[in-house]
Amino acid sequence: MNIYIRQELNKDYIITEELTEKAFKGMEFSNNNEALLVRRLRKSKYFIPELSLVAEMDDEIVGHILLSKIKINNDNNSIESLALAPISVLPEYQNKGVGKTLIKDVLNRAKELGYKSVIVVGHEKYYPKFGFRPMKNWKIRAAFDVPENVLMGLELEKDAFSECENGIIEYPKVFFE
Ligand SMILES: CC(C)(COP(=O)(O)OP(=O)(O)OC[C@H]1O[C@@H](n2cnc3c(N)ncnc32)[C@H](O)[C@@H]1OP(=O)(O)O)[C@@H](O)C(=O)NCCC(=O)NCCS
Repeated sequence: MNIYIRQELNKDYIITEELTEKAFKGMEFSNNNEALLVRRLRKSKYFIPELSLVAEMDDEIVGHILLSKIKINNDNNSIESLALAPISVLPEYQNKGVGKTLIKDVLNRAKELGYKSVIVVGHEKYYPKFGFRPMKNWKIRAAFDVPENVLMGLELEKDAFSECENGIIEYPKVFFE
């Protein structure tokens, strides 16, 4: 079955939120807040409409991914980066390549738009397939407690993180409401 990726439109909002809820339901690490996070991010200044994508199969929306603006700060620098969160695939469509297709597509689009890096807190075995590596490689950490191996980043431009070594990732408040 073909997987078709396109930008999320206003008319998709309710469907996307429902699918996010279904995807995370029962996941041990879930705070049952992911659908609301999507809604809050869309309304915030950190939202980039071009990087909120849906995956369709048979004309049905089966997956969604969202990249939004974050910052990394160290003593000398503040750089813009992107947070990958959340990504959701309907349970009955998981393990069919939907997640992979969404991630590859959104990374290409982010690069085309000129963004230089992406950060994710996620499955340590899943994201390395796309080139993500633990942020500790760049001595960059989050301002909140998170195991080192699940805080990962990807440079879309060579040495993007090097400018901010020893930095701290600043997730906007909207992530914690
Ligand atoms: C994680 C998720 C987005 C992956 O999407 P998907 O369409 O199922 O993934 P794909 O079909 O592209 O890839 C499947 C691969 O991912 C792996 N995978 C799926 N869920 C995983 C998990 N929770 N942890 C580690 N690996 C996982 C599968 O084992 C498979 O590996 P393989 O390619 O080596 O066989 C999807 O399973 C999902 O929505 N899960 C619930 C919500 C969630 O966990 N979101 C991510 C939070 S970081």
